[in-house]
Amino acid sequence: MTDGYVSDVAYPPQFHREMTPAWLDAVARGLGQPAPDFAAPFRWCELGCGAGLNALVSAATNPAGHFTAIDMDAGQIERLRHSAATAGIRNLEAIQAGFEELADAPAERFAPFDVIVTHGVLSWISPAQRQAVLRFIQRSLKPGGLVYAHYMTHPGLSAAAATQQLVRRHAATQPGDSAQKVQASMALLSRLEQAGAGLFTAYPQERHRLKSTRQQNPAALAHEMLPAHWEPFHVAEMIDAFAGAGCRYLGSATPPDNIDAVGLPAATRPLLAGVADTATAETIRDIARNQSLRRDLYQRGGQPLPPAQHMQALLSLALAALPGAPRGGGLTFDTAIGPVKGDAALFGPLLAALAKGPQTVEGLSRLHDTPLHPAMLNQAVQMLLWGQVAHPVSRRLPPPQAAWALNKLLAAEGSGWLATPALGTTLPVTAEEAGFALAVLEEPGITRDALAARFGKAASAWHEKTRPHWVALGILPAG
Ligand SMILES: C[S@@+](CC[C@H](N)C(=O)[O-])C[C@H]1O[C@@H](n2cnc3c(N)ncnc32)[C@H](O)[C@@H]1O
Repeated sequence: MTDGYVSDVAYPPQFHREMTPAWLDAVARGLGQPAPDFAAPFRWCELGCGAGLNALVSAATNPAGHFTAIDMDAGQIERLRHSAATAGIRNLEAIQAGFEELADAPAERFAPFDVIVTHGVLSWISPAQRQAVLRFIQRSLKPGGLVYAHYMTHPGLSAAAATQQLVRRHAATQPGDSAQKVQASMALLSRLEQAGAGLFTAYPQERHRLKSTRQQNPAALAHEMLPAHWEPFHVAEMIDAFAGAGCRYLGSATPPDNIDAVGLPAATRPLLAGVADTATAETIRDIARNQSLRRDLYQRGGQPLPPAQHMQALLSLALAALPGAPRGGGLTFDTAIGPVKGDAALFGPLLAALAKGPQTVEGLSRLHDTPLHPAMLNQAVQMLLWGQVAHPVSRRLPPPQAAWALNKLLAAEGSGWLATPALGTTLPVTAEEAGFALAVLEEPGITRDALAARFGKAASAWHEKTRPHWVALGILPAG
C-alpha cells in the first residue's frame, strides 16, 4: 500500500471514451460551453493513468495534441513508455510521480494544460493526495481549460460503505497479493448475502452490485475495493472543492445526466423549478436518480456561449454512425431511470442520413418536415452519442500510421479495443476480430481467401462486411 492505495498489483488497461478530446469537445458543444480548440496544438494530462490506454489512443489519433500521462506505479509507466515507443507515438510523455510530488514540483516543470482528466482516482486516494490533485489543477490548468473528474457519489454508493469496510478489513488478514485477498473477501461477502444478511434485504441494489462486482478482473477489483481511503462524495462537496481550485461546474460527460427529460423520473423534474444554486440542483438530481458514479466537467473561468454561438458550435459538429447502428426507426436508450424510448419520427431520419455517411449536425437539422427545436436537436445528438449509435468524426482523417502500429499491439495483447483515428476513440472488438485485424496489420495485402484459409468462414464474412468499414475509419490500412 502507498498512502493507503493498492500498489502490489497493476490496474488492467481500461478505455473511457469520455476522456478523449473528441468526446469532451462534443459534450461541451452540447452544453453550450467553450471547449479548447482541439484542431490546434493542445496539451492534455491524465492524473492516475494506470496502463495509459486512453493516453496512447488519444495521442495516436490526435497528432495536434501533446499528451502527459502520470501515475505513481513505476511498472505501469515503464510499460506505457515501451508501448508508445514501439508504436512510434512521439506526442506522449509518461511520468512516474505521486500527486503530492506533482503539486510541489517547480512551476517550470509543467507548461499549462488545456485538459486535465482523472478517472478512478479521486474517491480512492487519501485526503492529502486529493488536495494535491486539486492544487495541481489550480496551478497547471490554462484559463478556459477543461477538467474531467470521475468519482463515486452519494446516495447510490452510501450503502456500499459498510461492505467496503468489511472487504478491506477482512482482506488484510488473507494470504496472497491484493487480487487474491480481495477475491477471498468478496467470497465472504457473497456468503453473507446468501445467508440473508439484512443489508442486502434493505438495499437490494447492493445484491446486484455484489454480483456484477464479482465478475470483474481481480486486479481491478483490488483497486476498487481495498483502498483505505475509499469514499463516495456528495456532488456539492466536489463542486465546492473545484471552486476552490478556480473551476466552475459545467455539467456531466455522460449526456443523459445533463438532460432531465431522459435522466430523471418524470415526477421529480418539476421539483427543480426555481432551484438556482447549481450544487443544490445537482444534489436533487443525484437523489432523484440514485447516482453512484459521476463524470463531472469543470472549467477554469470561461462563460457559457451566447445562444447564437452555442447553436453554431452544435451545428458544426460532425457525426458518423458507429458499426451496427440502426438505419432508421426509433431507438430505446437504457438510462439510469430505465429504458427511454426515442421516437421514430425524431430519430428515423437522423439514422437514415447517418447510414449514408458522416453528417454535420447542420445537415441533420434539415431532415424533418417541421424543423426541430434547437433544444430537441441538441438532445437527440447527445443521445445518439451516448447510446453508441454515432460518434463525433474528424473532417479529415488524421495520419493513421501511429494508430496502425498501436493496433498491432492492442490486437496482439487481446485488449478488446482498437484505436479508430477517424473518430479519435476506440471501437470494442472481439478476440476473433482482433485476430483478423492483426493478420491485416501484419500483411495489409492479405486476401479474403487467405484470411478464410487461416481463420475459417467467419473471416470471409468479416472481410466482406467489416474490413472496408474499418479501413474507412483508419483502424486498418487498405489492402
Ligand atoms: C483505478 S486506477 C485508474 C487507472 C485509469 N485512470 C483508468 O481509469 O483506467 C488508479 C490509478 O491511480 C494511481 N494512483 C493512486 N494514487 C496515486 C498517487 N498518490 N499518485 C499518483 N498515482 C496514483 C494508481 O497507481 C492507479 O494506477
